[in-house]
Amino acid sequence: MMTQEQNDELTQVGPGTPMGAVLRHYWYPVAFTRELDEFPVKSTRLLGENFAVFKTGDGGYGIVDEKCPHRGASLVYGIVEDDGLRCGYHGWKFGTGGDCLEILAEPDSSPKFRADCGVRAGEAQELGGLVWAYVGDGPAPELPRYEAYIMDGIRDMGHALLPCNWLQIMENAVDPYHVEALHGNYFEFIAEQTGMAMPGSFGGNKHDKVAFDPFEHGIIKRRLLVGQDEESDDWKIGHPLVFPYKMWVGGNGVFQMQIRVPVDDTHTNVIFYTVHAPEGGDMPENPQTVDYPIDWQNEDGTFIVDYIEGQDIMAWVTQGLVADRTKEKITKSDVGVVACRRMFREAIEAVQNGDDPIAVVREPHDVIKLPLERSKFGRGAEFASDWIDNGSMKFSPLAAELKKLHIDAAAARSGMEGA
Ligand code: FES
Ligand SMILES: [Fe+2]
Repeated sequence: MMTQEQNDELTQVGPGTPMGAVLRHYWYPVAFTRELDEFPVKSTRLLGENFAVFKTGDGGYGIVDEKCPHRGASLVYGIVEDDGLRCGYHGWKFGTGGDCLEILAEPDSSPKFRADCGVRAGEAQELGGLVWAYVGDGPAPELPRYEAYIMDGIRDMGHALLPCNWLQIMENAVDPYHVEALHGNYFEFIAEQTGMAMPGSFGGNKHDKVAFDPFEHGIIKRRLLVGQDEESDDWKIGHPLVFPYKMWVGGNGVFQMQIRVPVDDTHTNVIFYTVHAPEGGDMPENPQTVDYPIDWQNEDGTFIVDYIEGQDIMAWVTQGLVADRTKEKITKSDVGVVACRRMFREAIEAVQNGDDPIAVVREPHDVIKLPLERSKFGRGAEFASDWIDNGSMKFSPLAAELKKLHIDAAAARSGMEGA
């Protein structure tokens, strides 16, 4: 159990808060690449602050405070030029670094005067179909090139803006027993009540034991299911919570980074960033990238709980805008949640001591690979099609195509094995 102050410290993300200081050490996706190609400026809210993110005519990306330093109009309604963003109201122009390049009505304004007229700017760049932003102080770290963002495959991004704090979603990433309860027993109950077929890969996953190992990018989660031996991928390899706002999960040719962007204390932008790359799959020459909203709420405000991520969303959001940890009853089986909170507290301490928190990457690199089971729950190819049919990917415009890709790949693999 926590005090209110402890809960506030762990969950508040705004400027000037201890966790806000931690979270301002990382890069976050703030737009789909597609969006700024279609219209070159958009608003984005991140860590409790509002920004304008834009792509210049020269192809550079920028992110600046939404409010114009002149008299406060929104720069989201600015004109994007080759080398910057010009406020729509009186035409002050800002470079991607935030410097005031020109004052429309005062062409002879002195550089000295303009030096005082800049807008606060972060840094932005593109990777893997997403535009990423760094809005912290100090030199930006490297944008970590996790395998998901650079590997070959079809990219499928379902997303939803959820009314809850990001930390309760991160706690779910180190909570293996919920798979047995929520995606197993509860799913079975819903399937029974509604007459739908229970997906085989998610039923009957009884846990024997779980383990959590901190590593340089977060916490590796392992599970041993009843009937598995310790050589199984679920135990031997596991998969990680990627500090501080992601989880890397998948198996059987599906690779998914679950991204949970802290928009503010009570909103989280969730992106299920999935790369489909099954072995033996007949991949198109230019694999597509799609993004689409996922449905999680019925018209009457109740939750849609007949698919995996809908069940997760129900659990995350019903915990409250900010889960009240002063009233919870933490027990032995919440050991992963405890480890996660400890890692966040250590990060706060590190930052207060002037150090980088964990998983800030300063070294230039080509790719960062993270552990991931190849075979999930010891299941074969049916895991991928069960997930597409019964997960957020069922809302994808590519759902049928993706399913076929996995089924054909499985057939090709078994052909190869038989040969
Ligand atoms: S408010 Fe932006 S130029 Fe005047
Ligand atoms: Fe889940």
